[in-house]
Amino acid sequence: LSRESFPKGFAFGTASSSYQYEGAVKEDGRGPTVWDNFAHSFGKVIDFSNADVAVDQYHRFEEDVQLMSDMGMDAYRFSIAWSRIFPNGTGEVNQAGIDHYNKLINALLAKGIEPYVTLYHWDLPLALHDKYNGWLDRQIIKDYANYVETCFREFGDRVKYWITFNEPHTFAIQGYDVGLQAPGRCSILLRLFCRAGNSATEPYVVAHNVLIAHATVAEIYKTKYKATQHGIIGIAFDVMWFIPMTNSREDIDATQRAQDFQFGWFMDPLFFGDYPSSMRTRVGNRLPKFSTAEAALIKGSLDFVGINHYTTYYAKHNSTNLINIILNDTLADSGAITLPFKNLKPIGDKASSIWLYIVPQGFRSLMNYIKQKYGNPPVIITENGMDDPNNPFISTKDALKDDKRIKYHTDYLSNLSAAIREDGCDVRGYFVWSLLDNWEWAAGYTSRFGLYFVDYKDNLKRYPKNSVQWFQNLLKSP
Ligand code: GCO
Repeated sequence: LSRESFPKGFAFGTASSSYQYEGAVKEDGRGPTVWDNFAHSFGKVIDFSNADVAVDQYHRFEEDVQLMSDMGMDAYRFSIAWSRIFPNGTGEVNQAGIDHYNKLINALLAKGIEPYVTLYHWDLPLALHDKYNGWLDRQIIKDYANYVETCFREFGDRVKYWITFNEPHTFAIQGYDVGLQAPGRCSILLRLFCRAGNSATEPYVVAHNVLIAHATVAEIYKTKYKATQHGIIGIAFDVMWFIPMTNSREDIDATQRAQDFQFGWFMDPLFFGDYPSSMRTRVGNRLPKFSTAEAALIKGSLDFVGINHYTTYYAKHNSTNLINIILNDTLADSGAITLPFKNLKPIGDKASSIWLYIVPQGFRSLMNYIKQKYGNPPVIITENGMDDPNNPFISTKDALKDDKRIKYHTDYLSNLSAAIREDGCDVRGYFVWSLLDNWEWAAGYTSRFGLYFVDYKDNLKRYPKNSVQWFQNLLKSP
């Protein structure tokens, strides 16, 4: 594997997000977000942590940019915290927030590192949630557009890659169906543990508003900024690959439905102008409809598809819906259940996260699926990586020996290269999740996704794991 395994101009980078990295949550006028609120509610995060400090990138960005530069990285994907720009979501711009991101962007460019900016990585200003329930209300589209346009105006002279949303599928389901992430809404049984919501409709409403919001800002960019700024716009989806549990017709159909309810939910409107027919049929009236004008606005409203890919599961037909209906409405609607096991045998080696199984071939299959189904659009891998446990009993020295991560990237990148070179998939870049160990949402600090180890016990010092050297070698190869 070398740079030559990838096309000319292919970008390598690392990815991060504001709430998981920045810390400094009360500094320079930043307003609270739904995630501050969630993390500070008792029992939402397994190790009772929050990201008040996180890995303090707010103060240490210069050091971190140097780390990227030492590795030979071409690009850095980070997110802007909406509530640093507009502490209450709307209203007056907070200049200190603008100043911060200007400094970060300029530090990157000074080292020849291209910024890829995510405009929304889940940290909704709390004020908008309190005011009108955030993504559940159409007012969010206007407020989001106002925030995003401010970013185009302030940063667009230097930022050429925009990602409107990170993983709407995840936040629609985790935030509004099962309630395991902010804002923590769900219904029925789990209501004991989370805020009241209606999980039979809310995830669909959230996704619908997200799609319209995405298309609205893409249109603003195209009509007002593109001619002078020359940037491009995409959106990043969490996409697992699914393979049928058995060769039965039922399981094969269920596998397609699982993919429709995860990825087609967003991709079909973006490429074909409407939700997948499997969703229309199964969700019925609970699935919102696009007006003709909205459908036209959404269709084709992106320059690239961002893919966050980690793992592959089996999918099978599910007719016994009871448990699913109780726990997860969207899963019940799909009539498919996805599992990392077949006859108790895991689909691949497990990383630390309970959901993350290592299946490198799934990556190539997914790239081919996108190529075939959506006409080979430009793809950027906006996240790929694996975690080790945060084991308090091993020495830092041993924690730096991340040979499993090296193997993970070797195997996933080999499959990606084959998808490009042999299968003709149009993939333009690859971002490792993540540069540093960081705060993993409801899993808190229990999981370590970084190429760099962060010493949480000693002033958040960063130490290169072996994978840093590995990437250095890959990136300086011809
Ligand atoms: C995302 C992810 C990241 C995670 C990573 C590992 O949605 O982009 O949730 O923020 O840290 O995917 O789980």
